[in-house]
Amino acid sequence: MMSVIINDPIRQPMQSLDIAKGVFAGAGIIVSSKNIGQLQYMFLDEKARQQMDQEQQVYRVQANLPVDEGTAGGLFMGTTWIKAGAVGNEFFMTQGHFHQLASRGEYYWGLEGNGVLLLMDEDRNTRAEYVYPGSLHYIPAYTAHRVANIGNTELSFGACWPSDAGHNYDEIKERGFSKRLINHNGIPTLINA
Ligand SMILES: [Fe+2]
Repeated sequence: MMSVIINDPIRQPMQSLDIAKGVFAGAGIIVSSKNIGQLQYMFLDEKARQQMDQEQQVYRVQANLPVDEGTAGGLFMGTTWIKAGAVGNEFFMTQGHFHQLASRGEYYWGLEGNGVLLLMDEDRNTRAEYVYPGSLHYIPAYTAHRVANIGNTELSFGACWPSDAGHNYDEIKERGFSKRLINHNGIPTLINA
């Protein structure tokens, strides 16, 4: 029997992920958040938004970016937590975006809580899918995406996207999605924007 001695060490990975909670730890993890004061004109009832505590957090993001933004062929991974709440009768939600490189797709998956994913194509046709623990969502290329929390507890979801996708918030900032998700007598309801 031949024995081979190799000195290459077997290393620990640089990061870890709590797969149930979506919490990343280790090197190169970035965090960001959005509060009510940063989300001007995103909700239908802008007056209601102005009257709220501007410091109140709406959502936060943790992301693992192992290569520079814009690198072709790489992958990014992240988790978003959206607080339970509403502005007027519209559920707390993410800003939403197309990708800067619009031909890039993405995966989302539900971790905790209950939400709805809005998907809008370039002709502004919007469709919606429920998000819940274990739900899996393929977001095709050329499709804007936004998530709203429709539950009474924090909603979290994971995401994986190409490192050259980038974010194009402009069209959504200017025109929004063609549908909005409101709480209509306790029932999450899609309405035309
Ligand atoms: Fe995206």
